[in-house]
Amino acid sequence: MKIDSNTGLYCLIGDPVEKSLSPEIHNLSFKLNGIDGAYLALRVKPQDLGEALGGVRALGIKGINVTIPHKVEILKYLDELDEEAELLGAVNTVKNVDGKLKGYNTDGRGFVELLRSSGVELKGKRVLMLGAGGASRAIAISLGLEGVSEICVFNRTEEKSKALAEEISSKIQGVSAVYKLSDPKNYDLAINCTSVGMHPDVSRVPFDVELLSEHCIVADIVYKPLRTEFLARAEARGLKIVEGLGMLINQALLSEEIWTERDIEKEKVLEEFKKR
Ligand code: ATR
Repeated sequence: MKIDSNTGLYCLIGDPVEKSLSPEIHNLSFKLNGIDGAYLALRVKPQDLGEALGGVRALGIKGINVTIPHKVEILKYLDELDEEAELLGAVNTVKNVDGKLKGYNTDGRGFVELLRSSGVELKGKRVLMLGAGGASRAIAISLGLEGVSEICVFNRTEEKSKALAEEISSKIQGVSAVYKLSDPKNYDLAINCTSVGMHPDVSRVPFDVELLSEHCIVADIVYKPLRTEFLARAEARGLKIVEGLGMLINQALLSEEIWTERDIEKEKVLEEFKKR
């Protein structure tokens, strides 16, 4: 699709942004889904965030993604928040409607919808969450909203798992959130939300998959390499696995659905992206 005077502008703001895959994912999706848009990554320093958002309004930039270090700070410049962003107190997507900026968070929902689209029922399931950082938090909150019954947050630093488990319990009713690992065989889903296994330390695993039950689904947010050692071992054991790249692409394309109010073909984008 050619860029002309009707093309809508979308961008990522963060610092740094050079390594982000968002421009590639969105521009590929715009092409594959026939969306008249262009997407850029813009470095915005922390002290310039307010002015940058003034620029978004003034220039009519239709939608933005937000990354480190602005995900929390941006809240004070927005006009409205959706429920999940409010619960998380963090935003990764903003939609501009006639100068009114509404914040969303698709970090956790990208993962939940990926599971749903691969036929995984989440209601009543027990989840082993490996890691207690920002990604764990977003995914845990989305899983809680989806009706999982138990979340065990297991992390190298126990203080952080305790704090996250307490936050989940206080924010979401009906979920039992704990930070002491019981029998690993109790879990239906194990998710690596740590950076363990990420390039270049590719031989490391965040948990021994042999300890998990034979029906446990194993997911990894790490997408470089695509098939982490954790996933490779789970697959070798015959467990169902969910790759991190799918999650990354899903969360990006959920932003696009918010901006364009259209259904986006996510599978097609994932397949094409893998070929690049
Ligand atoms: P993100 O926003 O991607 O979640 P983060 O907030 O920095 O990033 O969280 C990184 C997570 O990976 C944390 O749970 C971290 O454990 P600590 O809380 O103990 O720091 C975990 N992590 C990072 N490197 C790790 C390692 N080598 N072994 C175990 N856990 C690790």
